Amino acid sequence: MAYQVLARKWRPRNFPEMVGQAHVLRALTNALANNRLHHAYLFTGTRGVGKTTIARILAKSLNCEKGVTAYPCGECTACHEVDEGRFVDLIEVDAASRTKVEDTRDLLDNVQYAPTRGRYKVYLIDEVHMLSAHSFNALLKTLEEPPPHVKFLLATTDPQKLPPTILSRCLQFNLKRLPLEQIIQHLTKIVEEEGISSELPALRLLAQAADGSLRDALSLLDQAIAYGAGSLSEDDVGSMLGSLDQKTVRELIQVLAAKDASGVLQQIALLSAQNPDFVTVLGDILSLLQKIAIAQVVPTAVDTNQPDSEAILQIAQQLSPEEVQLFYQIGLLGRRDLPLAPEQRGGFEMVMLRMLAFRPDTTLEQPPPQTIQQQPPQNRPQTPPSTSAHSPTVTTPTNSQTAPLAQVLSNNDEWGNIVHSLGLPGFVKQLALNCKLKEREGDIWHFTLSSDKKFLLTESRKRKIEEVLQKQYNSPKSIHICVERETETSAVQQQDVQESRQQYVVKAAENDPFIIYMKENCGARMTIK
Ligand SMILES: Nc1ncnc2c1ncn2[C@@H]1O[C@H](COP(=O)(O)OP(=O)(O)OP(=O)(O)O)[C@@H](O)[C@H]1O
Ligand SMILES: [Mg+2]
Ligand SMILES: [Zn+2]
Repeated sequence: MAYQVLARKWRPRNFPEMVGQAHVLRALTNALANNRLHHAYLFTGTRGVGKTTIARILAKSLNCEKGVTAYPCGECTACHEVDEGRFVDLIEVDAASRTKVEDTRDLLDNVQYAPTRGRYKVYLIDEVHMLSAHSFNALLKTLEEPPPHVKFLLATTDPQKLPPTILSRCLQFNLKRLPLEQIIQHLTKIVEEEGISSELPALRLLAQAADGSLRDALSLLDQAIAYGAGSLSEDDVGSMLGSLDQKTVRELIQVLAAKDASGVLQQIALLSAQNPDFVTVLGDILSLLQKIAIAQVVPTAVDTNQPDSEAILQIAQQLSPEEVQLFYQIGLLGRRDLPLAPEQRGGFEMVMLRMLAFRPDTTLEQPPPQTIQQQPPQNRPQTPPSTSAHSPTVTTPTNSQTAPLAQVLSNNDEWGNIVHSLGLPGFVKQLALNCKLKEREGDIWHFTLSSDKKFLLTESRKRKIEEVLQKQYNSPKSIHICVERETETSAVQQQDVQESRQQYVVKAAENDPFIIYMKENCGARMTIK
């Protein structure tokens, strides 16, 4: 028997054999079971996700000799004929090749006649968006009120091109791209049944390349079986797809995270040896960065079955979310502009070096936590000596003792540092940062808060600060926050620091030769937000 491609051989013959699309199958199964069928269905979705397949199964369900059913028998003549594509009452029209209004008229002329063999005459119009405007108009009337023995099944990858008049006459089902895991499972099942030895990572690569389409997955599987002469190894599939060794890409991000410039260049040299398309490499880097960004906000969202999950979690800790966003943006623009570079590898190197060069200096934003005694003010001999260099506790003075706060904290900057080290949540931290530490009176610390930040002050936030200070520094017992006008707070200072950094970035960007070139030669404008 002639070889039949896998996509055709494995076309599902009934609903339970379908992969995914449960939302559509459930609605159709119920409609069939309760005999509440619409006269026109529209199946939409990207290529190779099951539109034609579902429509054919539906045609079979309507005409199975055992009765209208969600589970056609697959044995009667009608079922067989539908499967073999020769059932006379299933009229399949490829709208892409029959766009003219005359074609549609021909088709509709026959609608009125009763079905020859089956219960229903089923018109399956594939790629219906290709019909001409006149054809759509010719179809409208019949689509609205077809004879009772007629069902229309329309399928398209591009529903936006359908006139609203057509859309409103159909019951629309949107088929989804298939998730990677479901494609892998399906491929695994098929290679097992076909008796082909395969490595799981090879199937994963195929499923990734299929990008949500089962037909593409099966076509690629066919191709890979031929390439590997009957077996599927990761290496073979990788080189067939021209995909890169993802490990090298991962390591590139790792050295980048470690700020290791020479390591970055070495990795690029290694990558180059694989002769890759650097636009694809940047694409791989972007997907990896996206996974890292997700791991930073929701670490549990990382799929631990993936081979790179460990590396992703580790890099997620090494980089700050801002850095990941910055790298992503640089990579995105670099990918767009790479074709402009005189040669790909050089352009790619520049993109990676730009990531290194523009990396924000996070040490400015997150000063290392400092404990109160670690920096005793030199000019305050009466400061109690620290008990242990590593202990984060402050020696609590007796209640009767009233010491100006300056004895412990030389300036308000240090309060800012302490606040950073406390790990306070959002608004509580904002409140603490905006407070200026004025005086310590025994176990009571006095703060001032400028009146324009009064809105931050609530009893529960104040208590939270007390609680955390108590826990980490054993002091004070309570804090008083007095709303005042005009205080120079660490939040204001932090803003100053940020503003001067922004000026620095603006200046650096203005002097960047690439940006100057783009401005002078391409009329580019620079906006920094
Ligand atoms: N949901 C699915 N479950 C199982 N197999 C599927 C599914 N979707 C697609 N396939 C496989 O892909 C092949 C093509 O599917 P089908 O013709 O239904 O796709 P389509 O959505 O109509 O695509 P196109 O838009 O290109 O016409 C089928 O023969 C089958 O092997
Ligand atoms: Mg189709
Ligand atoms: Zn049957």
